Amino acid sequence: MPAARILIADDQTDVVEALRLLLKGEGFAIETAHSPAGILAALESQDLDAVLMDLNYTRDTTSGQEGLDLLARIKALDATVPVVVMTAWGSVELAVEAMRRGARDFIQKPWDNARLLAIVRTQTELSAALKRGQRLEAENFALRPGDGPALIAEAPSMQPVLQLIARVGPSDANVLITGEPGAGKEVVARSLYAISSRAARPMVIVNAGGLAEGVFESELFGHVKGAFTDAKMDRVGRFELADQGTLFLDEIANVPLNLQAKLLRVLEAGEMERVGSSKTKRVDVRVISATNANLAEEVAQGRFRQDLLFRLNTIEIHLPPLRERRQDIPALAAHFLSTHARRYRKELEGFDPAAMQALLDHPWQGNVRELNHVVERAVLMAQDNLIQPGDLALRSPSSGPIRVEDMSLEEVEAFLVKKALARYNGNVSHAASALGLSRSALYRRLERFGL
Ligand SMILES: Nc1ncnc2c1ncn2[C@@H]1O[C@H](COP(=O)(O)OP(=O)(O)OP(=O)(O)O)[C@@H](O)[C@H]1O
Ligand SMILES: [Mg+2]
Repeated sequence: MPAARILIADDQTDVVEALRLLLKGEGFAIETAHSPAGILAALESQDLDAVLMDLNYTRDTTSGQEGLDLLARIKALDATVPVVVMTAWGSVELAVEAMRRGARDFIQKPWDNARLLAIVRTQTELSAALKRGQRLEAENFALRPGDGPALIAEAPSMQPVLQLIARVGPSDANVLITGEPGAGKEVVARSLYAISSRAARPMVIVNAGGLAEGVFESELFGHVKGAFTDAKMDRVGRFELADQGTLFLDEIANVPLNLQAKLLRVLEAGEMERVGSSKTKRVDVRVISATNANLAEEVAQGRFRQDLLFRLNTIEIHLPPLRERRQDIPALAAHFLSTHARRYRKELEGFDPAAMQALLDHPWQGNVRELNHVVERAVLMAQDNLIQPGDLALRSPSSGPIRVEDMSLEEVEAFLVKKALARYNGNVSHAASALGLSRSALYRRLERFGL
């Protein structure tokens, strides 16, 4: 593979020279520029894999305005080249503004070599994967069966999801998967992992929602003997387990604020310490995360760090709810039917047309997971070789709002849990405390109700 070509741009010659030596030593091919005009000229004449540029060019300004304007012009010349901006230490707002305008990442000066290299590598790999992805797409690439979990996605609204998986799956880029509960976030995570270059190593899963606050840190980072009362011996955390591989951080919105900084550091610099130890360990982990919360809203409320969000969502894949992709219902239902029929040893051929119509009409608040449960129950109930509408036990949407008096205790609980989740944007921690439950107790209910 030819070396990735990087443009380094800064008006300070010593900065350009230092970066050139550093990146050249790591096997990159280097181009340099010392002015905005030089950057644009380089982009016009070369095929570049990444641009690393300072935001300030006129000696007497530090506003970064010149660099911000330049971003738009770069995008116009080459919409896909990743741009990493350099800003003065402390000017986080400028960096955030640059990211809003399309920069992929930022580095603060004076820079840390390891961090800079990690960022440049991620961005060039991503850019290579994008190019590869575009080529594969041109060859009418689809996820090959057998390469991962069954991912049924025929609806038009799922095509962007499939394209993103195909494009970023092979890279080391961090991916954030968002979508309602039961929409299939874990299936997408497994699909990304299955086509990644790390597929030979395990995918380690951490469910941030299911962990009690106290054990969180040691679960992620491990601990040494004596770190706290119960620490009877050394323990390896999930990050170390996932070294060279992939970590799936599920329900990421539930990571407590005080741990978010530590998480940010391991993502940025690949460095961490076990609880109770001062020895720094280096890990190389690709992080795929998922949430049903609105993280931008969590950031606005001060519950989630913006810099961590930027680190996690290099690429964001949003899964539409099932009601926005009803075209997928027949294939999904058929898939679940054959899975459960095999499992329960029942001879079933399919769905009676009226039963299929009922499936197509249902609102599916619980998304694909709810569909799976409905089909499983129907398989158990069926007495014929076709599933009948009655086997589905769907509450018809036309029967009006259900009254609390008519609900079972279990239904009332499920109703309240849904309400609390909706009120707190899907944030399990907050919903749990509003309901007076521990997070794990709420999680058990979510599982039980198929939410
Ligand atoms: N596109 C799909 N094709 C086939 N099966 C799917 C698809 N989407 C979801 N499923 C199945 O539906 C169920 C729920 O999916 P999954 O666990 O991935 O959802 P989720 O978004 O992670 O939910 P939660 O937010 O509750 O964690 C699983 O059994 C999964 O295998
Ligand atoms: Mg999940």
